[in-house]
Amino acid sequence: MIVTIDGSAGSGKTAAAHALAERLGFRLLNTGAMYRAAGFLLLRAGIDPYAEPRVAARIGALISSLRFDMTHDRVIVNGEDLTDHLFTAAMGPVASRVATFPELRTPLKAEQRRIASAGDFVCEGRDQGTSVFPHAEVKFFLHASAEVRADRRLGQLRAKGEVADREELLAQIRARDEQDTNRPLDPLAKAPDAIDIDTSSLTLDAVVDQLWDAVRRYRSKARPGG
Ligand code: DC
Repeated sequence: MIVTIDGSAGSGKTAAAHALAERLGFRLLNTGAMYRAAGFLLLRAGIDPYAEPRVAARIGALISSLRFDMTHDRVIVNGEDLTDHLFTAAMGPVASRVATFPELRTPLKAEQRRIASAGDFVCEGRDQGTSVFPHAEVKFFLHASAEVRADRRLGQLRAKGEVADREELLAQIRARDEQDTNRPLDPLAKAPDAIDIDTSSLTLDAVVDQLWDAVRRYRSKARPGG
């Protein structure tokens, strides 16, 4: 069974997907982490993601040679554990940029389907319900206002003892929304059959309860009495 959770940066989808997967006993596929890894590997290969025109054939060849292992919250690519390099503030915009390249999305989407063919998965990202798994059994679309998302990010950074400017965070969130929503290929969008959840005024537990209820309803309809 596949459950998809799509949503914008800061909508709470990663934490919710993690908790839902644990509660269901499913594996989790964090596809944003795969775009982050791809961006990291392009930079390491000396390819500037912002250069125009870009070296599409080289990017395509590099990405097509990657095999991902996403188990236990680690991002292992061709046997190398990249996890500790990926979840930095700098890698978010790079991932968003490289995610606009068709020669990169096509092999990554194929990897996502290969990984998720191995069992029951909660797949989270931007295009899981619209493009990668259009036949997923249950789909969700999470969103929250940009202001709420900036405040959440500010809280996370302060908890780590880091100083940040709310207006700057808000501008970064808006820029990322703009890039993820307006790209021609697989833009962030709600699938017509996705359940829409505004997380602005919900706690993580309340979001996870809603996801869980919807999956439970689907399962009892699919297997009456089961
Ligand atoms: O979820 P995240 O913030 O780690 O994702 C980083 C970027 O990767 C995001 O801004 C856009 C891109 N992405 C994508 O295009 N498609 C996905 N399924 C997941 C992420």
